[in-house]
Amino acid sequence: MLISRRAFTSGAAAVVGSAAMAAPSVAPRRRRAGYGAAVTWFDLQRDVEFAASVVEHCTQIVPVYELKWGTLRPRRDVFDFDLGDKLLGFATENQMTMRGHNLVWYYGLPEWTKEISSAVEAERELVKHIDAVVSHYRGRLTSWDVVNEPIPDDVARPSDRRECLWSRFLGQRYIEIAYRAAAAADPQARLVLNEYDVEFADNPFPIKRAALKQLAFGLLDAGAPLHVIGLQCHLNGGEPIDIEGLSRFVEELRLAGLDVYVTELDVNDQGLPAPMDERDAIVARHANDALSAITASGPLDNLLTWGLSDRHSWISQMFPRHDGLPNRPLPLDADLRPKALMSTLDRFTHAAA
Ligand code: XIL
Repeated sequence: MLISRRAFTSGAAAVVGSAAMAAPSVAPRRRRAGYGAAVTWFDLQRDVEFAASVVEHCTQIVPVYELKWGTLRPRRDVFDFDLGDKLLGFATENQMTMRGHNLVWYYGLPEWTKEISSAVEAERELVKHIDAVVSHYRGRLTSWDVVNEPIPDDVARPSDRRECLWSRFLGQRYIEIAYRAAAAADPQARLVLNEYDVEFADNPFPIKRAALKQLAFGLLDAGAPLHVIGLQCHLNGGEPIDIEGLSRFVEELRLAGLDVYVTELDVNDQGLPAPMDERDAIVARHANDALSAITASGPLDNLLTWGLSDRHSWISQMFPRHDGLPNRPLPLDADLRPKALMSTLDRFTHAAA
């Protein structure tokens, strides 16, 4: 799929997949270095105006579901790269990079993985998946979320880890196995450990930070190829950001030699007041608190939101507002106009060259 910037600016028709579209009128170039959004191939295809906004604002994308097990592995003996390849094509044709998300996640595994019944088989399947997928995209994705969300929601101690298919058979060593397999398949890709709910002040969130830190430092001590901590930053408008605790946490990670990305930022406005301007201001302030804390000890070279426009966001399905008003969790509104949140993000990135 090609959405050509030149086509927009010259007013010529651009092509999205098989569907020709009239070029939307073009706003001035707004791309910010390192800023990107999670997108689905489905949304890009059915909504060309939205696809144009992605090209206008983003220097990178990350697939929402196209590289997850459920899509890549419909059957045990099948690897289906079709949608992932289409998204990568869209990215490269439009001078964007793409991140990989994700290789290991407790959630969303295909039914056939229930057939796995021994440690030997689990390790073989895990390594086979990582090797095949990372090798397929070798040299073409900038980074990979290797292990996603390994700390449980009800974390009570820093040593707590989430149970999943792989831990049931392999114990926690599945994590190190995954990083080593990913590095072997693509030595260039930056390997990320991605987690959520580490931004807030109230318990159990500080314990979740401690658990993530313990896990990351343990991997480094073991010589595992871990390069980056991904802070998902699914912020909740009603949950105060622990500015001091989060700053210290990020600084400690950086001092240990790890980089830090913001991988999935959005702000759940479910509990926020209805008036739009007031709500947008709180959402932007919340993101500002988190990003200020995260950048206190160094710059942020990767800042991604989980979606770009309120038109296409998981928040509306997962956390609908009780007053029936549409959620406004993302930097562009449903008409693709930048909101206060976009100005906040702009302060933490710089114009793309
Ligand atoms: C979410 C998608 O947005 C949903 O459409 C899907 O139903 C479930 O997954 N953290 C992650 C993402 O790492 O993969 C999740 O994406 C959102 C939370």
